[in-house]
Amino acid sequence: MIYLDNAATSFPKPETVYQALDKFARTSLANPGRAGHKMAMAAERTLDDCRHALNRFFGGEGIERWIFTCNCTDSLNIAIKGLIKPGDHVITSDLEHNSVSRPLRKLEKEGVITLTRVASTDGYLDPESIRQALTPKTSLVALTHASNVLGTVQPIDAIGAIVREAGALFLVDAAQSAGLVPIDLKTSTIDLLAFPGHKALYGPTGTGALYVGPRANPRAWREGGTGGDSASETQPQQLPYSLEGGTPNVLGVAGLAAGIAWVAERGVDVARAHEVELLQKVVDWADANEGWSIAGRWEPATHVGALSLIVPEGISPQEIGGILDGSFDIAIRPGLHCSPYIHKALGTFPDGTIRLSPGPFSTEAEIDTFLGALEEITAGVL
Ligand SMILES: Cc1ncc(COP(=O)(O)O)c(C=O)c1O
Repeated sequence: MIYLDNAATSFPKPETVYQALDKFARTSLANPGRAGHKMAMAAERTLDDCRHALNRFFGGEGIERWIFTCNCTDSLNIAIKGLIKPGDHVITSDLEHNSVSRPLRKLEKEGVITLTRVASTDGYLDPESIRQALTPKTSLVALTHASNVLGTVQPIDAIGAIVREAGALFLVDAAQSAGLVPIDLKTSTIDLLAFPGHKALYGPTGTGALYVGPRANPRAWREGGTGGDSASETQPQQLPYSLEGGTPNVLGVAGLAAGIAWVAERGVDVARAHEVELLQKVVDWADANEGWSIAGRWEPATHVGALSLIVPEGISPQEIGGILDGSFDIAIRPGLHCSPYIHKALGTFPDGTIRLSPGPFSTEAEIDTFLGALEEITAGVL
C-alpha cells in the first residue's frame, strides 16, 4: 500500500522502533514499580529514560513534568478539564481538532465557561486577533500548533508572548508539529504542550504525552495506583504521579523512546523538509489541473506534511478516498478530519476535502502514482 495518512498516525515506523518494541516485550514487560523486583525496576527505568529524552528533546524544566498519556486527545483533556474553573473565559480557534473543540464546547454549553473561537485567514491565525479576544477572565488559550487539515504552522511564539503578558495559560496542541517543527520550551511561552507519540515521534499507537510547565497545576483527573506512596489515602500531589494513575503503556513508551532517538539523531525539520518537498509537487499539480485546488495558503516554510485538496464538482472526497483505497491501494484521509469548524470556514463542510500526508519514508514515485490515480479517477468528471 502507498501510505499517505501520516497525519493520522505514522507508518511505517523506523526499524529501531520495531526492534525496541520487540526487545522490551520479550525482556522487560513488567508493571513498573519503584519499590518492586528487577523487571519492575527495568520497566520503571524505561519510563524515566523516555521522560529524560522528552525533556532534552523539547527543552523542558524537569523530567517530572512529562506525563505519559494514551494519545493527544488524552493529553488535551487532562489539561483542559484539569485547569478550567467555573466562570473562566477560554480562547480557541477555528483550526482546532475536535479533541480541543469538543471539551471546550461542552463546557460552554453547560455554562461553565465562556468561549471565543478566533477565525483564521487562509489557514493562519493573526496574533492580534488573539490579543483582541482576551478579557480579564481569560484563563486559558488553547490552540493548535499546526492545522491537521491544512498543514499550516501557526505563529505560536508571537501568540504565546501575548498570552503570557495577559497572565493566561497557553496550551499548545502539537499533534501535527511535535517531531517536525522545533519546539524549545525553555525559550517559548508554552505552559502546556500536548502531543501524540504515534505521529511524527514514530512511537506506536496508544502513546502520547503532556508537558506541564511551572505555571500550570492541573487537578488530578484519574485517581488510583501510582506504583508508590501506597499508604496515601488520596492521589499523590507530586508530578508526574498526580496525573498518571494506573498501569502505564510502558511497552508503547519503549517504542516512543526509540522514535524520539531516531528523530533527534536525524534532526527536527528533516522529515518536514522532505514532506513539504513532496507536497510541492501536489501543489503544482493542483495549480495545473482544472477543478482542483488546495485549501489554505501554501507557504512551504510554515507548512508541515499535511495538505488538503478541494475536489472537483461531481465527485465527493469520500468516493475518491474509497477508489484510491480499493483500486489503487493508496491510503489518504477524506472528509472533515475531526475539524468541522475550519471546513465550515473553507466552504467544504460537510463533505470535506481529501488530505494527503506523506511521511519520512514516502517517495516522489509514490506521489506521482497518487497524482496519476487522481487523474484517472476524475477523468470522467472533468
Ligand atoms: C491537531 C490534532 N489534535 C489532536 C489530535 C488527536 O490526536 P490523537 O489521535 O493522538 O488523540 C489530532 C489527531 O489527528 C490532531 O491532528
